[in-house]
Amino acid sequence: MGTPARAKSRARKDEVEQEVKRLVARELHDRVAQTLTGMLVDVENFKSQQVGWDDVLSQLDTIQSSTRQVLSSLRQLLHDLRGEEIVVGSFSDALAALIARFGERTLIATELHVMPGWPEQLTSPASLNLYRIVEEALTNVKMHSGASSVRVVLEHDNSGDLVLAIHDDGRGVDTDEARPVGLGTVGMRERALFLGGKLRIEGREGSGTTVRATFRKENLVPEPRGKDIEEFAITGA
Ligand SMILES: Nc1ncnc2c1ncn2[C@@H]1O[C@H](COP(=O)(O)OP(=O)(O)OP(=O)(O)O)[C@@H](O)[C@H]1O
Ligand SMILES: [Mg+2]
Repeated sequence: MGTPARAKSRARKDEVEQEVKRLVARELHDRVAQTLTGMLVDVENFKSQQVGWDDVLSQLDTIQSSTRQVLSSLRQLLHDLRGEEIVVGSFSDALAALIARFGERTLIATELHVMPGWPEQLTSPASLNLYRIVEEALTNVKMHSGASSVRVVLEHDNSGDLVLAIHDDGRGVDTDEARPVGLGTVGMRERALFLGGKLRIEGREGSGTTVRATFRKENLVPEPRGKDIEEFAITGA
């Protein structure tokens, strides 16, 4: 407790949390509260008017469309908060697209190797958290490594555990225990822990950096009778 590094990363985490709260508040205000207030005023005015049946129907149409608008804003907000977009489709396809975009943007050469034995299907939380780990590792490659190439590997080790590894050929991360780590490292570790795995960052000066996360297979793949499929159906409704 209480090292300057921890205090720094705690402070940055608080900052991000504050930023997320502000974003949610802004969205709820602009897209939800405003529309609902407008609807209330409209209905109130309408009640005081002498109108025929056609006007009632047309007013109901207006209310219906405003309700749809509010719902769609809420769905969009939930979607953004949960980052569900990447869960669509297979994890390795989503990763291939992410890595290709990274290569185009940064001109760092990229490779993705999906080794035999890597499961076809992962659970939604596994896909999302592994995707975010790779995203952060790639951001670090771009920001800190000076690398000219990066290789992402999905494989299993001798004991059958699943391994996600991101290797770069840059300057090599400083692995001194006392060095300050950022929110990025904390987030990657938390995501691996959340999936019951562990994450190590290895580097040697001048010989690149490897982020390696290891998981028990059963923590990443859906149960045989597809609990995850149910989840999909609910969130996609
Ligand atoms: N691939 C890499 N090559 C070289 N150094 C790295 C690499 N990845 C991370 N580092 C070093 O480790 C530090 C901590 O990384 P971390 O992602 O935790 O924080 P950050 O990138 O500085 O900030 P943020 O919280 O925005 O991610 C970096 O500042 C950098 O010095
Ligand atoms: Mg970072």
